[in-house]
Amino acid sequence: MIERGDGGGVAGNGVGGHMLDKLGRLHFPLFFAQVSMLFILVWVLRDLSQDRPELISRMPESTSEQEFKKRVVDAELQGEEEQECQMKRKKLLQHHATSNTKEAKQHLDTEYLDPTNYFDQLPLDLVISCLVNLPPSNYGTVARINCAFRSIIQSGEVYRLRPQQGNNRIFFSCNALEWEAYDPDKGNWLSVPKMPSSPTDTFRFSDKESLAVGTELLVFGKEWNSYTVLKYSILTNSWSPGVLMNSARCLFGSASLGGKAIVAGGTNGNSVLCSAELYDSETQTWETLPAMNKARKMCSGVFMNGKFYVIGGITNNNKVLTCGEEYDLKHHSWRLIPNMSVGLNGANGAPPLVAVVNDELYAVHYANKEVMKYNMEIDTWSTLGKFPERFVSMNGWGLAFRACGDRLIVIVGQQGTHPGAVELNSWIPTGGPPQWNTIATNHSGKFVYNCAIMNS
Ligand SMILES: *[C@@H]1O[C@H](CO)[C@@H](O)[C@H](O)[C@H]1NC(C)=O
Ligand SMILES: *[C@@H]1O[C@H](CO)[C@@H](O)[C@H](O)[C@H]1NC(C)=O
Repeated sequence: MIERGDGGGVAGNGVGGHMLDKLGRLHFPLFFAQVSMLFILVWVLRDLSQDRPELISRMPESTSEQEFKKRVVDAELQGEEEQECQMKRKKLLQHHATSNTKEAKQHLDTEYLDPTNYFDQLPLDLVISCLVNLPPSNYGTVARINCAFRSIIQSGEVYRLRPQQGNNRIFFSCNALEWEAYDPDKGNWLSVPKMPSSPTDTFRFSDKESLAVGTELLVFGKEWNSYTVLKYSILTNSWSPGVLMNSARCLFGSASLGGKAIVAGGTNGNSVLCSAELYDSETQTWETLPAMNKARKMCSGVFMNGKFYVIGGITNNNKVLTCGEEYDLKHHSWRLIPNMSVGLNGANGAPPLVAVVNDELYAVHYANKEVMKYNMEIDTWSTLGKFPERFVSMNGWGLAFRACGDRLIVIVGQQGTHPGAVELNSWIPTGGPPQWNTIATNHSGKFVYNCAIMNS
């Protein structure tokens, strides 16, 4: 299934949300008093700068460093636990492969499972075949039973053995650290735990970008002078640190195809990039690809007919690009496509809002509030019809336009709602004018910062 990642089309300024989060530490005893004073300072600064994020950059260096070190230690501790689990997982899977069921069971009993747990009485084969038949939405709960179950789930083995059903999930975020997830096929909401805040609160105060690839939702953020990646896994229903790109960036174009994703262009703070990278979610690695013809930021990406396309964007000197580029994964080469993004983004507007359904490219012309379709043969766009009527948007920011299986999805804020609601609209393109159906609403907010569609 082909889907579009988040090229930043709905990225915005993530200012707002709850202010007290980690400050429970304020109530700690005296020997934390000094640290607390610093936290108070941070808090006051945050409060002051809620509407003026630039104030944050004046925060004393030492505070962020201290906070950062603490979180690094936390992350390392988590990492150790994770490593221990992974070692056990390896042994477990080795055992599963090499020994007979009886031995495996014994192994499981003696080493890995909690002896008070009745699940331990089951042979490993049976455990796995039970899990295969369980709806994947329960995997998070299963992973919490104990380390052995977590290992089994995390290995992805169960997921791979499961009959392929093409589960679609719409992830979107209207609040700094919160994500909503909706399953349009079953028509239900799934709960996603709150995203942990990054060392310098990137995800609260600045732009973030997201990308769904395989069974992961990756969220990218920029620190003051570094970058962060967080990874949410639907297998474990939890967040953990993700892997940084070879050349970290923001405001890039991206898209995913199964367990692989490509990011292209963007900026590293000093210059606009022409480099691109491929992420493999199975190996958790980034591979640097040949450079594009043009450096571009605030561009968008899609996969179509097995090829990756980067569309539009802005140059180093703030000129709007009207070309796109096609990347051929077999020949490792880029091809420039003139006029591919004419009218799709303005200098102050959001990156092009594009989506691919059944290998056909659709876009939203946000000034005209129209849906368009691209004709690959003659390299031109034609207008299909109207975008949903009621919506809140600033030059294309704050709304999401995505492909989800065989439908196009538009997530828009409802006007005049307090504190805010979004509606999810769906249309299965058939060639005629768009017929939007509202499939769900949520009161999470009315400005969509990020959206990514997972199909796995
Ligand atoms: C909004 O989404 C959350 C899950 O993120 C869900 O629990 C809640 O029921 C949804 N609200 C509505 C009004 O559907
Ligand atoms: C791109 O569009 C411009 C203006 O419409 C046109 O003059 C030009 O010939 C087009 N270029 C190509 C390669 O189609």
